[in-house]
Amino acid sequence: TQLFTPLPIVDHIGVIAHRGASGYAPEHTLTAYKKAIQMKADYIELDLHMTKDGELVAIHDATLSRTTNAEEVYPGRSPWRVKDFTLSEIKQLDAGSWFNDAYPEYAKKQYSNEKIPTLQETIDYIKQKDANAALYIETKAPNVYPGMEEKLVDILKKNGYLQPGKVIFQSFSAASLRKLREIVPKGIPLIQLYSPAMIQGQNLDDVLDQAAEYAEGVGPELSLVTPEFVQKAHERHLIVHPFTINTKEEMQKQLSLGVDGMFTNYPDRLVSLNKK
Ligand code: G3P
Ligand code: CA
Repeated sequence: TQLFTPLPIVDHIGVIAHRGASGYAPEHTLTAYKKAIQMKADYIELDLHMTKDGELVAIHDATLSRTTNAEEVYPGRSPWRVKDFTLSEIKQLDAGSWFNDAYPEYAKKQYSNEKIPTLQETIDYIKQKDANAALYIETKAPNVYPGMEEKLVDILKKNGYLQPGKVIFQSFSAASLRKLREIVPKGIPLIQLYSPAMIQGQNLDDVLDQAAEYAEGVGPELSLVTPEFVQKAHERHLIVHPFTINTKEEMQKQLSLGVDGMFTNYPDRLVSLNKK
């Protein structure tokens, strides 16, 4: 007997631009999103945190230190947590020069003018570009930001983004996804992310059974992806979007394992493989 409904036929591997086209421009800046759009990524991935005055901003880390000059601009405000700064304080920061130092081969002078974007600014930018790219939004540290999910859903709704094809939600936090399940219309996918440590020593069937209670897919760290993992996820009608796949060689490997899409810092590489 078949326990689960069969998967719809997937004819296109989803290209998820991880923090924008972050291999080519500073992550989570409008330029990184612009490059993702130009490369024809299907999704722009956004990690969200919340400022002291309750604004949702796109940044990966809980602190400002790695990707801005916060330590220079605000000495004495250690540990430079996003949640301890207002949006107008955060807008003073340079969110691009770190990239020029770390990746001189892709450095551009104008990156020193990049700012941390809000969710609203990102949506406005995609609309202004008249781009089809959907949002693939991660609630980061949702326990630190009570009310984050409600705020997120409100903003998307107000902008006409709370509909299938416009947004996917992802989180390492099952609690955050279960909350979203209650407030997000059916048809908008939720993706449970997994690091290896999260599921180490657990029975894979049990792990995926739990995810299938509230999610439409799973986002495993790439080393977790095996034929067995993909098969068991698909049996439960869960799509598989591993992270973060950056070389063409690894992309080919993941394709052969049967994944449905990938997070990548180099969306052009996956787009070119998709065309073959
Ligand atoms: O969201 C998928 C992947 O981005 C998870 O890892 O740390 O890059 O947000 P991280
Ligand atoms: Ca992420």
